Amino acid sequence: AQQAERQRILDTLRLSRNQLLEVKERMNEEMARGLSKQTHEQASIKMLPTYVRSTPDGTEHGDFLALDLGGSSFRVLLVQVRSGTKSNVDMHHKIYSIPQETMQGTAEELFDHIVDCIADFLKYRDMRGVSLPLGFTFSFPCHQSKLDQGILLRWTKGFKLIILCCGYDIVYENIIENAHMVEFDLNFVAVVNDTVGTMMTCSYEDPKCEVGLIVGTGTNACYMEEMHNIELVEGDSGLMCVNMEWGAFGEGGELDDFCTQFDRVVDACSSNPGKQRYEKMISGMYLGEIVRNVLLDFTAKGLLFRGKLSERLKTHGIFETKFLTQIEKDRLAMRQIRSILQHLGLTSSTCDDSVVVKEVCSVVARRAAQLCGAGLAAVIDKIRQNRNLNQLSITVGVDGTLYKTHPHFSSIMQETLQDLAPQCQVTFHKSEDGSGKGAALITAVLCQLNRI
Ligand code: BG6
Ligand code: GLC
Repeated sequence: AQQAERQRILDTLRLSRNQLLEVKERMNEEMARGLSKQTHEQASIKMLPTYVRSTPDGTEHGDFLALDLGGSSFRVLLVQVRSGTKSNVDMHHKIYSIPQETMQGTAEELFDHIVDCIADFLKYRDMRGVSLPLGFTFSFPCHQSKLDQGILLRWTKGFKLIILCCGYDIVYENIIENAHMVEFDLNFVAVVNDTVGTMMTCSYEDPKCEVGLIVGTGTNACYMEEMHNIELVEGDSGLMCVNMEWGAFGEGGELDDFCTQFDRVVDACSSNPGKQRYEKMISGMYLGEIVRNVLLDFTAKGLLFRGKLSERLKTHGIFETKFLTQIEKDRLAMRQIRSILQHLGLTSSTCDDSVVVKEVCSVVARRAAQLCGAGLAAVIDKIRQNRNLNQLSITVGVDGTLYKTHPHFSSIMQETLQDLAPQCQVTFHKSEDGSGKGAALITAVLCQLNRI
């Protein structure tokens, strides 16, 4: 009876093929609404123009600084691009931490900290006084009307800074001005979303890469869209990369039919209730929380841990993505799962408990991968239809800790994609170099254009 009760609850987290097709269809509708001038304001997916018009062609060159902010680590990079051979890119980076207080303090503190890190990096590389163009991977939704501008629309992924909100140009009003104050010059800046940086990084090696996907702390995608479909930008010819900000899908109720009580609790306890609903069902920052809430529910109903709630299990954020990925490793013995549970304060768990916990993790991760695959199917099929093709062969550049470390996420996502977009042959290219390289390449293209 206990097993049946647990399955009844877990079934609410299982999606049928028809439901996934419905997700694809709704994503497709929201994409159209986000691109259209008339409906853009109300659309949950903002489909933001990025002003990136082409992928790199290998002639780019020069030395660039890059910043990479918004994932699990903040990095400052020196990227040296030599033209001619595409493999000729040297990268040096240093990782800096961003203290929790800074993530939730004021915008001024954050940007002061960033400028200090750049200054430290220049000193560390013995480059004081050198003025280099800067490519800034800023992994948050920004309105852009040119490449060197980024007006923050909202914070996501647990960043919650005071003051900064709508209508603030993150580059000029913060980075450049602050840099002047500590006496170094940054002379050119391109602001790039991490999806766009990832697509660029990958397309440098594979020209068929026209989609960027992140499944990490947050989730998002970008792709090359026909200019004539992007109503918010003048001009009808050629392509432009669109940063979808698909994490916000569901804010108009599009996912309500598929949400469970657990999703609602995770949303309500997050720093941005009501927002980023799709992201909260997929990405690393939230999956562990969903699992934790299922475990709490099971325990309260006496279906797990002999009905005994541990204090630690009641703690928000305790179930990190790394546990989720470890627990699902196929070869991991039950004994090792128990030791992970012990680490989580669940000292008296039995072998049966471990089996249940593993199943919960697997159901939650499977749903995430399927939802992500359904969204991707909408994107890829749209590209195919844009080009009037019966069959499309395309590459997706991917990055993000969850995608890269989870033992089953990528295969389930790809299976779903194949099933829901059968006319597309999709290759996945894992980005090994991060999106900072892509940001530098975009800056390189711009510098080249400016020189002409
Ligand atoms: C990195 C990118 O490689 O992947 C970041 O350079 C990005 O900009 C990140 O945000 C996503 O992964 P995670 O797991 O760190 O959020
Ligand atoms: C969040 C951000 C988005 C970013 C994604 C992945 O959804 O809003 O800009 O691309 O996380 O890092």
